[in-house]
Amino acid sequence: MSTEGDHEEESKAVGPLTAALHREHIKQLYEKKESFEMYMLEHRKISGVYWALASLQIMDCLDDLPKEEIVEWVFKTYDKDSGGFGANEQLDPQLLSTLSAVQILAIYNELDRLDIEKVVEYIKSMQNEDGSFSGDQWGEVDTRFSYGALLCLKIMNRLEDVDVDKAIDYVLRCRNFDGGFGCIPGAESHAGQIFCCVGALALTKSLDRIDVDLLGWWLSERQLPCGGFNGRPDKKEDVCYSWWVLSSMAMLGKIDWIDREKLTEFILQCQSPDGGIADRPGDIPDVFHTFFGLGALSLMDFPDLKRIDPKYALVTEVVELIEM
Ligand code: FPP
Ligand code: ZN
Repeated sequence: MSTEGDHEEESKAVGPLTAALHREHIKQLYEKKESFEMYMLEHRKISGVYWALASLQIMDCLDDLPKEEIVEWVFKTYDKDSGGFGANEQLDPQLLSTLSAVQILAIYNELDRLDIEKVVEYIKSMQNEDGSFSGDQWGEVDTRFSYGALLCLKIMNRLEDVDVDKAIDYVLRCRNFDGGFGCIPGAESHAGQIFCCVGALALTKSLDRIDVDLLGWWLSERQLPCGGFNGRPDKKEDVCYSWWVLSSMAMLGKIDWIDREKLTEFILQCQSPDGGIADRPGDIPDVFHTFFGLGALSLMDFPDLKRIDPKYALVTEVVELIEM
């Protein structure tokens, strides 16, 4: 017997991964520099460039965009005085923009061009007395910045330059009764923050300090009947949570606790007919959701995609060079 729900499922035919269209979408975005989407990204352009390059690298076509032009542009966002990078030219340095700059240089195997001492000095200056990190000179604190700082240092092989023990104690103070983590102590568990906290613990080999089964359970409950994940109870599914949730589960060794086939189908349904991946089927695609959709497919060993490392959010061949 067929129910109404079954009909809905049947009508959503799942096509293949349209990688050629995603390549074209990213190229167009880069070439039409003043397009609407690029305008929306101006205040976090350097992260947009990281998502674009990381997407191309997963699809093994990094050469689609001009390397030298991009590396030169990255250094236009550098602030020599502080050692940090801004989200765009003429913008103040920020911790997450500095992470994106360092990730872009790692993707291109050009970390040698960095003044590592200055960048380390910047990250160190962002650590607070309680072990937390601020995101910029204005001082906002968030576990996103703890992860950003630790990952940035790890890529430069300089983790020991900050107080790692205090950094991890702070992250652990953001853990909740449900096993999840929030942006500051006492804040609600949220899959994006969980990714950051689990990433911070994984990068510092401290995952033995949490209850991985309790957290794995909370994360597996994020999968909805449509196959997609939400970021918190009672929220809608969204492709970016495929990454925040699945990469966390991968770091915890719990990736088999979800229905891979249904998640794969959901992500493929979010592909736009003109290229790019959207947050939900039928929505307008963007480079953020394109990267996180491809990243989640890569974690599930989707054919013809390079493998991504969940704690670095970089393909494994880049991580091998970093860890050499
Ligand atoms: C949800 O954001 C996601 C987060 C809070 C995590 C963001 C993490 C970083 C920026 C660190 C760097 C990440 C990588 C992969 C290198 P949202 O604002 O979309 O949340 P909402 O869905 O609740 O609006
Ligand atoms: Zn999203």
